[in-house]
Amino acid sequence: MDSTNLSMADFLNTPGLDIMQRAGKYYEFLEDFRDKQHMQYKRIALEGSGPVRKVLDSYTGKVREMIYLASNDYLNLTRHPKVIEAGRVALEKYGAGAGSVPLLGGTLDIHIELEKKIAAFKGCESAIIYTSGFGSNAGALLSMLQEDDVAVLDMLVHASIIDGCKNTNVKYFKHNDMDSLESTLKKVKDKYRTKLVAVDGVYSMDGDIAPLDKIVEIAKAYGAYVMIDEAHATGVIGKNGRGTPEHFNLEGKVDIVAGTFSKAVGGVGGFIASNKELVDLLNFYSRTYMFSTAMTPQATASIIQALNVIETEPVHKEKLWDNIMYFRNNLVDLGFCLGNSETAIFPIIIGDDMKVREMCRCLHEADIYVNPVLYPAVPRRFSRVRMSIMSCHTKEHLDKALNVLEYVGKKYDVIRKCKIG
Ligand SMILES: Cc1ncc(COP(=O)(O)O)c(C=O)c1O
Repeated sequence: MDSTNLSMADFLNTPGLDIMQRAGKYYEFLEDFRDKQHMQYKRIALEGSGPVRKVLDSYTGKVREMIYLASNDYLNLTRHPKVIEAGRVALEKYGAGAGSVPLLGGTLDIHIELEKKIAAFKGCESAIIYTSGFGSNAGALLSMLQEDDVAVLDMLVHASIIDGCKNTNVKYFKHNDMDSLESTLKKVKDKYRTKLVAVDGVYSMDGDIAPLDKIVEIAKAYGAYVMIDEAHATGVIGKNGRGTPEHFNLEGKVDIVAGTFSKAVGGVGGFIASNKELVDLLNFYSRTYMFSTAMTPQATASIIQALNVIETEPVHKEKLWDNIMYFRNNLVDLGFCLGNSETAIFPIIIGDDMKVREMCRCLHEADIYVNPVLYPAVPRRFSRVRMSIMSCHTKEHLDKALNVLEYVGKKYDVIRKCKIG
């Protein structure tokens, strides 16, 4: 099979093929994808998070030292000595696992400490923690919204929010477009019981920020609640790294603040912060919480410490922002199209899947680790090379990446050629 004009979407629901036949076809697609050296997914890192990492090259069997532009560990807290030490102490004190689901024996004192800490950090009354950010978004939404309700979603919200809305009605508005939000709310205003607008604070594929001030104002005018997913905003934006509500001076004014501990916080797990009544309801109705073993002690203690570090060591965020400005200015000077990116996520919009695949192959061979984002993850005209940077990248790392990007950009003729909008 020639994978050139095919994508994952072609194997999603292939008519007439049962699951094993479909898997067989997709396997053939992947074989050609690999033969073309376009398989830049699930590469194997041989060491933990950092600005440069040893990566096993599955094509040559050799180890590459790669400048790593693909981590969400924005502040490199996964490697912070205090964060590691807190995890080590908890591992020794409590053991390797929580041993049960939270309601039936798995809740530890440090789980409650983390729930209180993240609630206070987000300026909310109460919070509940889950073992993944996907599970918290999907699980909370599935338990909150039913057939008489409606979710009004930005069309670029994370998959976990979309999956969480399977029990309810869904209307999409154009990305970050407030006219579109308002006209959507106008249409649903009198038709549904709960109206919930859900957005990401920072968009994971675009790195732009939701205009939360306007979203809250418009939602209130139409009697809708607002839920924000702070996955890529926590630790990164807001004066103290508290995220999008802090960035817009709206702390305590957003109905539901969701997020994950897996990005700038450097751990794993998710949370929902809100008023105490809603959080109590989630404790007993949210199936991804109730029927899933509680977070490991080590992860829990490390996250508590990571939040302490965010509060007490602003230097990491300052370094990150210094790098963001440096990398962005240089990419723009080179003529790359970065869409509306404002944060540590840098999409180079190409709009041609095959070019993205080839560019990522070249970048891999030059020891620059980036990610291809292809259709159907984004519309074909927005396919992209996605990069993210960290506080611990040096200017030398970024310069080396910029040099290679310039070379590859010229080779594939994508400089000042791409358009978005
Ligand atoms: C915007 C957004 N929300 C939620 C998630 C899910 O978080 P987690 O990786 O903790 O499951 C992710 C990340 O993968 C994300 O990018």
